[in-house]
Amino acid sequence: MASKKTNIMILGSGGREHVLGWKLKQSPSCGKLYFAPGNGGTAQLGENLKIDPDKVTTKVVDEIDYFCRHNDVSMIIIGPEDPLAQGMADRLAREGRTIFGPVAAAARLEGDKAWAKQMMRAASIPTAEAKVVDNYEAAVTYIESREGGMVVKAAGLAKGKGVYVCDNAQEALAAVEDIMVKKIFGEAGDQVIIEEKLQGQELSVLALVDGKNIYVLEPAQDHKQAYEGDKGPNTGGMGAYTPTPLATDELLRMVERHILVPTVDVLKRDGIEFKGVLYAGLMLTPAGPKVLEFNVRFGDPEVQAMMMRLKGDLVQIIKATAEGKLDTVDISWDKRCCCCVVMASGGYPGEYQKGKVIKGLKEAAAMEGVEIFHAGTKLSDGEILTNGGRVLNVCAMGKDLKEAQAKANAACKVIQFSGAQYRKDIGFRVMK
Ligand code: AMP
Ligand code: GLY
Repeated sequence: MASKKTNIMILGSGGREHVLGWKLKQSPSCGKLYFAPGNGGTAQLGENLKIDPDKVTTKVVDEIDYFCRHNDVSMIIIGPEDPLAQGMADRLAREGRTIFGPVAAAARLEGDKAWAKQMMRAASIPTAEAKVVDNYEAAVTYIESREGGMVVKAAGLAKGKGVYVCDNAQEALAAVEDIMVKKIFGEAGDQVIIEEKLQGQELSVLALVDGKNIYVLEPAQDHKQAYEGDKGPNTGGMGAYTPTPLATDELLRMVERHILVPTVDVLKRDGIEFKGVLYAGLMLTPAGPKVLEFNVRFGDPEVQAMMMRLKGDLVQIIKATAEGKLDTVDISWDKRCCCCVVMASGGYPGEYQKGKVIKGLKEAAAMEGVEIFHAGTKLSDGEILTNGGRVLNVCAMGKDLKEAQAKANAACKVIQFSGAQYRKDIGFRVMK
């Protein structure tokens, strides 16, 4: 007899949630997929529910719980950081239910950068030198005592926008003013971290952690700046590729030994079990890799590129992670390269308009090796409309990065919506 299929709910509405649904659907044990709230792409894979998981209120928790009990949903995947930081995983836990995502005490690694910094110091994890301040005057005094570049960060969650990379004290003072005086991120800016500005290439190392075992996923390189050549303001991520020649076996062993293992251990020492995705955002400095930040969920758009290469049954991989049995699943990787290009709305990451009709999706998706994941889109009367800053993730596989990038760019060219912007140079830092 065939084993029972698993009905799955995915919380979130971005490209990360679309690609996870796409990959889960390839598993023989995947049943029905529900997305809360999902987007125009996920609507074509399963059912979108009118539930917004970003604010973890009793009403939202009850809605999700009720839906899962009445629709035989036994796996819940929590995509974004906000619900994790607010304890969604803790509050949805039930006997017989698989929850993918860490409990709030562990999610604090991402949700409270001041605490994460302290933890890294306590565990001797290499990271940027930093000062944590909790009032404006102290921030000003500290900044005025420093020279050169600095990075100013709101300690709490700010939808990926709370980081200011500054060239001088003047810029840093303006950043602190935004965060602590104008309070543009609300209470996420009650504390500020002022860091030394590190130089080097960035690398995202993501690992599955099941409480005791750590499986390091194939690393990817993200592109945070809005414009080609890594110019312009910080964004949620404008593109990613994997594999990357930056991630040598030696580097990964070192990251595992000196960053990932001590992080999981130091939490364990405090009675906190980490289960889910541990994401170390690294700067590869001349003095070795240093942690810029921890995230506690899949990176977006890194995971789009990673899932294109993952071989293995994602339903089983997620079950194994939740059950502490990561050592029992098969995970391997397509040797080819995947390049993911983010198509964004004109004006992003600043102000942008929504509701633009998107054309050419079918034609682009039909191109060899190309898959398109939706981020900020919605399905309306049979048309796909833009509905966010990052709109689409155009992924292409190629024998190498050059080919994958060329194919992704060619697919982007076929897709049209008013104001569309994207970077044609994803991967440029490692391309000759
Ligand atoms: P975070 O959200 O902390 O990863 O910061 C967002 C982006 O800001 C990173 O991906 C880097 O591009 C940049 N950044 C953060 N911290 C530093 C740092 N200490 N030195 C240089 N760049 C940084
Ligand atoms: N791409 C970076 C992030 O997901 O935070």
